[in-house]
Amino acid sequence: MTSFLSHRLFILYLNIFTTLLASSSAIFWENIFDTTMKRMAKTSHLHFYYHDIPSGKNPTAVTIIRGNELSFGATYMIDDALTEGPDHWSKLVGRAQGMYSIASQHDISLLMIVNFVFTDGKYNGSSLSMIGSNHVSENVREMPIVGGSGIFRLAKGYALAHTIWFDQTNRNATVEYNVTVQHF
Ligand SMILES: *[C@@H]1O[C@H](CO)[C@@H](O)[C@H](O)[C@H]1NC(C)=O
Ligand SMILES: *[C@@H]1O[C@H](CO)[C@@H](O)[C@H](O)[C@H]1NC(C)=O
Ligand SMILES: *[C@@H]1O[C@H](CO)[C@@H](O)[C@H](O)[C@H]1NC(C)=O
Repeated sequence: MTSFLSHRLFILYLNIFTTLLASSSAIFWENIFDTTMKRMAKTSHLHFYYHDIPSGKNPTAVTIIRGNELSFGATYMIDDALTEGPDHWSKLVGRAQGMYSIASQHDISLLMIVNFVFTDGKYNGSSLSMIGSNHVSENVREMPIVGGSGIFRLAKGYALAHTIWFDQTNRNATVEYNVTVQHF
């Protein structure tokens, strides 16, 4: 009887011990994983200019949904050039492909759903995905970068946008972008 009990107790202790060991080693491996991932995380800063041309012979932004009389709901598909410098003819580094909609009934606030697809240098073939609210009358707008591909796999970050030129008559615009992203 006593030997049976002590055997039961021994099994119980063994179970508790292995459970503790397993959970502490899980924490141990989690820590190794965390520090490795942190060490591998890189931060990149990108600076480029975005050219939105909704008019003329070769528009890069076209209406795909017409809005109401206040334009609420209007949606445009874009394939805008991204250049190194502010000049429309400066070196092409990629394209902003996606869409934007007028998402506010009271002012011009856009819902931006844009992939920055890079075609130059070390970023060639990599992309960043941005989704955010763009209150265009503000001097600087911040929008989240929610992911990326290629060099930018697992990216997270933010974009700052500032309109440097806007033509009221044809709505052509040039916007400066600073993008800060963490990736692996
Ligand atoms: C801007 O818009 C005009 C007319 O709508 C167009 O002809 C012109 O090529 C556009 N170009 C640039 C660089 O803004
Ligand atoms: C970007 O990559 C593509 C496909 O690999 C290649 O054809 C193209 O020449 C590259 N562009 C630049 C500017 O390096
Ligand atoms: C982007 O960064 C440059 C250099 O730091 C700065 O001069 C510029 O004002 C910034 N623009 C935006 C929109 O953040």
